[in-house]
Amino acid sequence: MLARARLTFVPALSAPARADFATAVRKGLFALRKRLPCRYLYDAEGSRLFESICALDEYYLTRTERAILCESSDLVVSRLPRAATLVELGSGSAEKTRLLIEALLRRTHKLRYVPIDISPSALAQSARSLLADYPGLSITAFAAEYGAGLARVHQLHGPKLVLWLGSNVGNFTRAQAARFLRTVRAGMAPLDRLLMGVDLRKSGAILARAYDDPAGVTARFNCNLLARINRELGGAFDLAQFRHRATYDAARGRVRMELVSQCVQRVPIAALGATVAFERDEAIHTEDSFKYSLREMDVLAAAGGFAVEWRGLDANRWFSLNLLAPRAD
Ligand code: TRP
Repeated sequence: MLARARLTFVPALSAPARADFATAVRKGLFALRKRLPCRYLYDAEGSRLFESICALDEYYLTRTERAILCESSDLVVSRLPRAATLVELGSGSAEKTRLLIEALLRRTHKLRYVPIDISPSALAQSARSLLADYPGLSITAFAAEYGAGLARVHQLHGPKLVLWLGSNVGNFTRAQAARFLRTVRAGMAPLDRLLMGVDLRKSGAILARAYDDPAGVTARFNCNLLARINRELGGAFDLAQFRHRATYDAARGRVRMELVSQCVQRVPIAALGATVAFERDEAIHTEDSFKYSLREMDVLAAAGGFAVEWRGLDANRWFSLNLLAPRAD
């Protein structure tokens, strides 16, 4: 079949996406402690920059997770019912997903893949390249946030493996993560599985390099959020007047990403009809990345209504891949 015939692309339901962005920016930048929701980091430019981060030596997460997947994708697949649909939350470039797609296709020759991602450009690009490489694959792609995406997942028929890779769970607080897992769990049948990649607690020095690389790719990725406000909302941010900062709070197991104003400044944003004032050293909080111990990982799984059926680690114990089975209530 032609690649195009094997692709169903479902665009975001919310047409007024720009209005959402404007509302979030207004709310976040006029708050007492300035913040911007991390999902807005991933426009086309942000998704491209994030792929560059994943290729960095310092950003050990991607290659470590890939190595664990490489070793264990056949084992994971052997625990699934045949004809399982592969679902992925936050699929991005779906490069690592190839390992599971290949393992599944070794068994069945036909596979349905349902990627969900906030970035339509990343979705379209990854779908095109996967369909070209795997004739047995058909794709239903949802350009959606997790919440809307999950609602779609819940409507799928038949057994499924839900992928949630890249330690994206770390961008939630621990309480939010447990709540989100319960939502995922609610749409799963007893034989369905969730495969979750989770970054582990480790030395602050390694984390500092991973989240603030010397080449400045991560800084550009974070600053792109301000560039996006300039592009889409007529903002007047001078990117040279903001600095990327990543700090690790070892007690909380949390890397915090911020954009720090280098001077006292006022930044007009045309679409808001308003001007944002910054003190020198005032920060905009853009994202947190929580790290887990193995014990915290077990607690999270249990709080989400799952049992850890299998777990893969790298030799350094830097990253974990967790196969979760829904527990009967
Ligand atoms: N989900 C990624 C992570 O937590 C996102 C990320 C990596 C990120 N580097 C960043 C987000 C820098 C903001 C700034 O690892």
